[in-house]
Amino acid sequence: MTTVFYGSRAWGLFHRASSSSSSRVWTHPPFVGLSPGRGLSRPPPCRAAHSGVRRLPFATLSQQDRDFFQTLLPGRALTDPEVLEASNVDWLKSVRGSSELLLRPRTTEEVSQILRYCNARGLAVTPQGGNTGLVGGSVPVFDEIILSTALLNQVLSFDVVSGILTCQAGCVLEALSSFVGEQDFVMPLDLGAKGSCHIGGNVATNAGGLRLLRYGPLRGTVLGLEVVLADGTVLDSQAPLRKDNTGYDLKQLFIGSEGTLGVVTAVSILCPRKPSAVNLAFLGCATFPQVLETFQLCRGMLGEVLSAFEFLDSACMKLVQDHLKLTNPIKESPFYILIETSGSSAAHDEEKLHRFLQEVMTSSLVADGTVATEDSKIKALWALRERITEALTHDGCVYKYDLSLPVQHIYQLVEDMQEHLGTRAKNVVGYGHLGDGNLHLNITSPSHDPALLAAIEPYVYEWTARHHGSISAEHGLGLKKRNYVHFSKPAPALRLMWQIKSLLDPRGILNPYKTLPDRASTD
Ligand code: FAD
Ligand code: MLT
Ligand code: ZN
Repeated sequence: MTTVFYGSRAWGLFHRASSSSSSRVWTHPPFVGLSPGRGLSRPPPCRAAHSGVRRLPFATLSQQDRDFFQTLLPGRALTDPEVLEASNVDWLKSVRGSSELLLRPRTTEEVSQILRYCNARGLAVTPQGGNTGLVGGSVPVFDEIILSTALLNQVLSFDVVSGILTCQAGCVLEALSSFVGEQDFVMPLDLGAKGSCHIGGNVATNAGGLRLLRYGPLRGTVLGLEVVLADGTVLDSQAPLRKDNTGYDLKQLFIGSEGTLGVVTAVSILCPRKPSAVNLAFLGCATFPQVLETFQLCRGMLGEVLSAFEFLDSACMKLVQDHLKLTNPIKESPFYILIETSGSSAAHDEEKLHRFLQEVMTSSLVADGTVATEDSKIKALWALRERITEALTHDGCVYKYDLSLPVQHIYQLVEDMQEHLGTRAKNVVGYGHLGDGNLHLNITSPSHDPALLAAIEPYVYEWTARHHGSISAEHGLGLKKRNYVHFSKPAPALRLMWQIKSLLDPRGILNPYKTLPDRASTD
């Protein structure tokens, strides 16, 4: 590999990345022994987030119900407890349900018939995509029927002129990336869970991820949705049009609704052209104010070619080194930054990046760094950021927070939390999408520790509200965060959310106990 020297100072360590390639697809964390039992009597290993939740008076599954679903979905209405195990437990292994039925429809019509039946019978349903959600929203709390989108996995159309992709909701994000990639396009979103998450799950959570800085949120790139409502009505707003001002934009209600208002069965999404030149710089900074200054400079100097600005602290680096045996390609630093540029002219982008790197070097904002242009090297550098989530699961019980904050306060929360918790926590780490003002604050402990949790919550939410932030930037509310939403939304907004829920799902069968706060708290 070429060693590149920028400017007068010798950047012996500022070189083109040479570590070996690694996949961006995450691997599942180890199963951390759940004790046997049913529903809430089977406590999750790390967290008793739903210990106060009571089962609502939904119907329980009868033999007649089972017969109905076996007839409707021959061989796709699964009841084997071993098969259901993976769908009853979330990715973090932090919450568990006790569903006895997993349905795998293939068509919108089948989803419609399932919901029509469940609504009439008063049976509760949890929609599930790739089950990579991080807030306990994708698994049942009690015995809700799991409606999986795994077999709704067909691409319906792709228009190479407009870049509009229309597909079923169960398509895996990475498969869609490959599909549009072959035609020189990219998906407008990318996340560490792309090997498993479904596009319908992405829409249902309004997932952010690593490309939001460049392509914006899904609320802008999703052009149309097909949704099945609780009573089985199919709402088709799939018009693959960039502009459509015909009254209320109803699809927006379902983006980020976490399966509580309808089941997304198909998605139309606008895909950008694949950038022909991609560069990734991995830099080390001595202080967080330097990270912020680098960000400001970077926005000014890289402008339209900047496509990602991510950060991690040294504790995250240690986690990926210790638990995943990844290698830090540069000198140890308190903070690390990933800056991605994407554009249509390699020479132009490299020139811009070169001038920017010279500037951060001469102003001593950056202590050390490396640049990658080859795909395999880029992947290896991205792995250091993307696999933090996985590394954390090897560190013990993870308390995960996903906050939006004014960017100047972003790391102050990590430092305050470190001081607040002292030796009670094993690790308090910070990483995230700095370019979007999104901090991922994660705290680990050797095992579930209720006293530690009580020290974190509501402290973390109060801190966030004081700094005018949001308690969930991109992961949603699910089961774990719903009763803290008042820190981010005023009471009239919460009442309106409940009114919308009652209008679209009067019997409350869709993903109960999720997203909306306890109703009594909003009256
Ligand atoms: P699931 O986990 O199955 O479900 C999530 C929620 O959506 C549930 O409430 C479920 O009921 C509902 N739902 C799923 N499918 C449908 C549907 N078709 N119709 C209606 N409701 C539905 N998130 C980010 O935002 N940014 C990231 O960068 C990011 N990185 C991650 C990295 C890793 C390693 C992991 C494990 C997770 C990450 N996540 C991230 C969280 C998660 O991947 C996203 O929330 C993702 O969008 C969930 O998709 P899924 O198909 O797995 O949905
Ligand atoms: C990420 O950005 O890595 C994801 O949102 C997952 C996480 O917060 O760990
Ligand atoms: Zn994230």
